[in-house]
Amino acid sequence: MSQTVNIKHASVTVIGAEACSVLQQFVAKQTEVDTGSAVDFQAADLELRSSQSGLVLIWNKEQSSPLKFQLDFEKKARQLRSFPAPKQGAFNQALGKKTKHVIDATGGWGGDALLMCLQGYQVTVIERLPLMAALLDDAFKRLAASDWATYNHVCAPIVVCDDAAEVLAARALKADCVYLDPMFPSKRKKSASTNKNMQLLQWLAGPDADAGELARVAMSHYARLAVKRPDYAEPLMQPVDARFSSKLVHYDVYLKAERLV
Ligand SMILES: C[S@@+](CC[C@H](N)C(=O)[O-])C[C@H]1O[C@@H](n2cnc3c(N)ncnc32)[C@H](O)[C@@H]1O
Repeated sequence: MSQTVNIKHASVTVIGAEACSVLQQFVAKQTEVDTGSAVDFQAADLELRSSQSGLVLIWNKEQSSPLKFQLDFEKKARQLRSFPAPKQGAFNQALGKKTKHVIDATGGWGGDALLMCLQGYQVTVIERLPLMAALLDDAFKRLAASDWATYNHVCAPIVVCDDAAEVLAARALKADCVYLDPMFPSKRKKSASTNKNMQLLQWLAGPDADAGELARVAMSHYARLAVKRPDYAEPLMQPVDARFSSKLVHYDVYLKAERLV
């Protein structure tokens, strides 16, 4: 089974029944994304394939060999010594000591959502790009169905494909904290070290120019907001109530007046 699906900026060849059904389900939820002007979406092709070990995304970048992307969260979970993984450092301080349920409103490749899940948080992930949401949904469903999750009684994250600003404004999801990790603003001096996952995401998602608005919506509907920022960037919103720093990034925390850090 094979078909072509047009997702905003690119046409994706989808191969395999599983891949077709999961992507179709999310394409219907597609929202407008400001992808910026520097990106030429006609310059590359994408292919989403079903495989025994999950969905695989293939990026046929022009003039280079195709790049393959596959999320294997079960493999990462199995590398843990014990569940839940310890909560430590700036990331967990930003999420808050008493936090149990987090909405990760900028899903991306799911790295942060997986970390939260492995640390024992209950997580809901929102991602507006259907292609990324399809990969996340497939990977977290596979994690949920794994022996590892059954043995550890782990409730894997649920994935919602939509614009997080709309989902948060509807207040249909409960959470102690909303977590945002929008695309980092580009530096004046470009670095050549961006990895292939982030290159693809930059190509698909653009600069997340509406991240400030998303932060304001989150704060008007939820008690705590944690935002990951690179050290060279301005805060998404002022005033910041608390800041927790790690190596190259920091987390800005915003609180409703009645909450303590
Ligand atoms: C930098 S990535 C997040 C990386 C992620 N934390 C990880 O660990 O892989 C930002 C992602 O947020 C998504 N995003 C940005 N604004 C959004 C919004 N308003 N609603 C839903 N998704 C959004 C983008 O499409 C992109 O995939």
